[in-house]
Amino acid sequence: MPATTAYAPGKIILFGEHAVVYNRPAIACPVNKVRAKAVLIPQPKGEPGSVRVQAPDIGLDSWLEELAPDHPLRFVVDMLLEHLEIDHIPACILRVTSTIPVASGLGSSAAIPVAVMRALTGFLGISLPDEKINQLAFRVEQLSHGTPSGIDNTVITYSLPVYFIKEQPLTLLHISTAYTFVIGDSGVSSPTSRTVAAVRSGWQEEPERYEGIFDQIGSLTDRAKEFLERGERARLGELMDLNHELLVELGVSSPQLDNLVAAARRAGALGAKMSGGGGGGNMIALATAESAPRIAHSIMRAGAAGTITTTVE
Ligand code: PMV
Repeated sequence: MPATTAYAPGKIILFGEHAVVYNRPAIACPVNKVRAKAVLIPQPKGEPGSVRVQAPDIGLDSWLEELAPDHPLRFVVDMLLEHLEIDHIPACILRVTSTIPVASGLGSSAAIPVAVMRALTGFLGISLPDEKINQLAFRVEQLSHGTPSGIDNTVITYSLPVYFIKEQPLTLLHISTAYTFVIGDSGVSSPTSRTVAAVRSGWQEEPERYEGIFDQIGSLTDRAKEFLERGERARLGELMDLNHELLVELGVSSPQLDNLVAAARRAGALGAKMSGGGGGGNMIALATAESAPRIAHSIMRAGAAGTITTTVE
């Protein structure tokens, strides 16, 4: 039996983060330059059912059953086998690596389970539809985030640009033009659960103000969908700037993110905003193929820990 390998990409949220938790639309795209990788290596001489889990990035090398039941890697394997009604799998090593920065809004917590499920089903010779992978990946997101909207697992499972509303059928975006984005890492890791919880307590204290902000984010996301599909870059950039200001009002940006956003705009970005949970993590800037290196340089000079230039088409 040969080894089975599967990948899942990172992602960026172009519009609508946080408001999407409150049933407003959001737009997200896969980022293929970073990805999670899962490899299942058969161990023909091993005890049936024994699974060695190795995640060298985090120094993990352990038997699956020695991990806590809510450890994300054990959780995803147990959940998948339960769903498939399989008690024991052939002895194997599950090796997981990822180039997606952790806790930075690029979807690492959804990409790893998607890659693991695809590798494991491939190893077992079972084909599981994307819809099912997506549902199961959502359960892992619930474990790590509490109340996720489901956008991360969806964009990562389908690996296509999506217009997403919680609990509604998925809309794939039809983008005719290529868009270049520069992603800037603030270098500050920030768990999504923290900013999601902060927004929730703000919303409980001032429901009208927060609902008003969510409405504004929702309607600019709808306009952004049209501009994206029609190739109207400049207007799309303006909406990114507006979305950033609304995220500042929600209190989920940070001085570092604001600084990187300003640096991108100074270097000629058509628009820039924080992306994902915020509080740290990443920002994105709309560039062109020509302006991207200049914008990336400016973001680095403003203190970014790294940049990724990605194209969405
Ligand atoms: O995983 P992150 O940091 O990209 O955040 C996901 C986006 C949020 O809207 C903040 C949360 C959610 O579940 O949609």
